[in-house]
Amino acid sequence: MAFLREKNGRWSPEKIAAFVVAVLPALWLLGRFLLHDLGARPITEAIHFTGEWAVRLLLLSLLISPARRILGAGKLILARRTLGVAAMAYALLHLSLYILDQKFNLFVVASEIALRFYLTIGFVALIGLIALGTTSFDAVIRRMGPRWNTLHRIVYGIAILAIIHFLLQKKLEIYEPTVMAGLLLWLFGYRLWQRLAGAAPGWIGLTALAFASALLTAAVEALWFGVKTGVDPWLVLDANWALDIEIRPAWWVLAVTLAVVGIKLVTDFRSSSGTPRQRMSVSTARG
Ligand code: HEM
Repeated sequence: MAFLREKNGRWSPEKIAAFVVAVLPALWLLGRFLLHDLGARPITEAIHFTGEWAVRLLLLSLLISPARRILGAGKLILARRTLGVAAMAYALLHLSLYILDQKFNLFVVASEIALRFYLTIGFVALIGLIALGTTSFDAVIRRMGPRWNTLHRIVYGIAILAIIHFLLQKKLEIYEPTVMAGLLLWLFGYRLWQRLAGAAPGWIGLTALAFASALLTAAVEALWFGVKTGVDPWLVLDANWALDIEIRPAWWVLAVTLAVVGIKLVTDFRSSSGTPRQRMSVSTARG
């Protein structure tokens, strides 16, 4: 099981954790299937399940770089490939289940993908995931050199397409894809900050990012309902204040990204109060 070990042969807790996160949903789906717990339309339920986990694992793989810096845990990078390849695997299972749902009529599948916009962008996202997944192995990385980094930047476009595919498919029940869109905005914001400021955001920067991502999430939701239903977007924005009725996605994005600020404050405190050796290991991870 070399894929769970570091180059020096030691077991890698990061790779093992990523592998467990990647495999558990599939085992859970298999368990629900064997227990006939997938409801009246089991294949559709399985298509939804695998699609959702493909997006979740994709976002987790994008979270690795910020998490490394915020936690001062350089070795987290070892988990990224497993998460990325797992996102591709779930998306492939997702497509296979759709083909099964269409009773293996590949002509219908192809024409549906060509004619339905949300399926077309799902297909483009899948092709992108396959390109990234198949070029994730050491030999290919070595052979591609700097072109590898250029290719792997398409992951940002894939994430956007996957979330639009999710939104379009959900029509008006867009709670989860809106939360995911908000978290993706935070992941983009973190990288933009790094690029513009030349350094990773500190806790103040992360706090600003948290509020900006939450506001943008509310804007995405308001615009989506405005475009899809013609309802006044200001009314949708206003619904964010009706906490007694429902906590809207923007609040969850704010809660999660403010929790990141808390984690950053704790790791900063620990690295400033830890032993020189500890300080050394954290600063190396931060690069
Ligand atoms: C050829 C490629 C793809 C096809 C044909 C496809 C097909 C579908 C279909 C038919 C549904 C809706 C099922 C239903 O309600 O009847 C769906 C939903 C979904 N797909 Fe895809 N998809 C593709 C690629 C992707 C990719 C690459 C991702 C993620 C990376 C993805 C994520 C999702 C998600 C999150 C949902 C919504 C699940 C839910 O409703 O909870 N799909 N897809």
